[in-house]
Amino acid sequence: MPEYLITKNKKQVNRMSTSSDKNYTPATAIPEHLIRHTTLRQFQVFESIYRLGSFTRAAEALFLTQPTVSMQIKKLSDAVGLPLFEHVGRNVEPTEAGNELYAACREMFETLARLEMKISDMKGLKSGRLRMGVVTTAKYLAPEMLGAFSQDYPGIKLELKVTNRDEIIQRMHSNEDDLYIMGQAPENELEMDVFRFAPNPLVVLAPRDHPLVGRKNISLEDIAKEPFIIREPGSGIRDTTFKSFDEKGLRPNIRMELGSNEAIKHAIAGGLGLTITSLHVLALDGADGPVAILDVVDFPILRNWYIVYPKSKELSLVAKTFLEFALNYEHVVRDIMLKMWPKLDAIFAQEKKSQITILK
Ligand code: PGA
Repeated sequence: MPEYLITKNKKQVNRMSTSSDKNYTPATAIPEHLIRHTTLRQFQVFESIYRLGSFTRAAEALFLTQPTVSMQIKKLSDAVGLPLFEHVGRNVEPTEAGNELYAACREMFETLARLEMKISDMKGLKSGRLRMGVVTTAKYLAPEMLGAFSQDYPGIKLELKVTNRDEIIQRMHSNEDDLYIMGQAPENELEMDVFRFAPNPLVVLAPRDHPLVGRKNISLEDIAKEPFIIREPGSGIRDTTFKSFDEKGLRPNIRMELGSNEAIKHAIAGGLGLTITSLHVLALDGADGPVAILDVVDFPILRNWYIVYPKSKELSLVAKTFLEFALNYEHVVRDIMLKMWPKLDAIFAQEKKSQITILK
């Protein structure tokens, strides 16, 4: 008996219909031509180019060379019998056939992804895949969490995409991941399930030898006079930074814009200015390194990390298990933060531990 067949007794057998059965279901329409002349990989390449708007970006995203991507699209166009993209200036735009094919690809991939999830759920937690999308600053906590999770579930494959808030929201729209970690749930966009799971305090950082280090109750007016380093547009921390200055009718004195928390940390250590960022950024260096935390009025800003996913999304067993794991992980994050900056103890004491679901 081959391994792909299991044995059941006659009563248990759930018979497949045949044409002689009363409940015979006729075969569904089979797209013979496409089955013979196309591959799922070609559809994947096409979907990426369409979504990312460029052959180069699709090649990067799929770890393929550009000639391979072009060849796959040529074969797919030949099979369809119509061009799928056209050049408009320096951009590629989908043709009408391209738009139709994209809609079909989305349906086909969503159906196959649902199938993959159901099959994986049938296998339990011994295998399966967890795809996480996290905002840039959550890279200081997500890998450790995934590491702890994979000790409990070593058979589960993990994929982690780290990018800024705006891109995470785009990924949500195109349903690219199972769960997301964000500093704030997206507003007025999709209906979301939102679970608070760990603290994310924002602090003001300065070089260790800065004259404000050690001063008590510094005002935000004083911070606004100093050269300031800010994250790139699309960053959640950038938005919160501007909001805190705005609330006091102030503007930061921006000297530099950088797309990486690590680069900002080095720029601060190099004396280029101050910044507002998450305490997690100091996770490996600690609060006594070359970058110091300033004692600024109304700081730290007590933000939290949230696990977020669109309400319409059906979570896989693996994703549900990770969500539960994350909600129990809070004390680990709190302990790390307290070790780094014991002053937080009093602030945490006032906080109420709760899980919230925001309905929009
Ligand atoms: P960011 O988001 O890394 O995109 O700035 C972090 C946050 O919103 O706290």
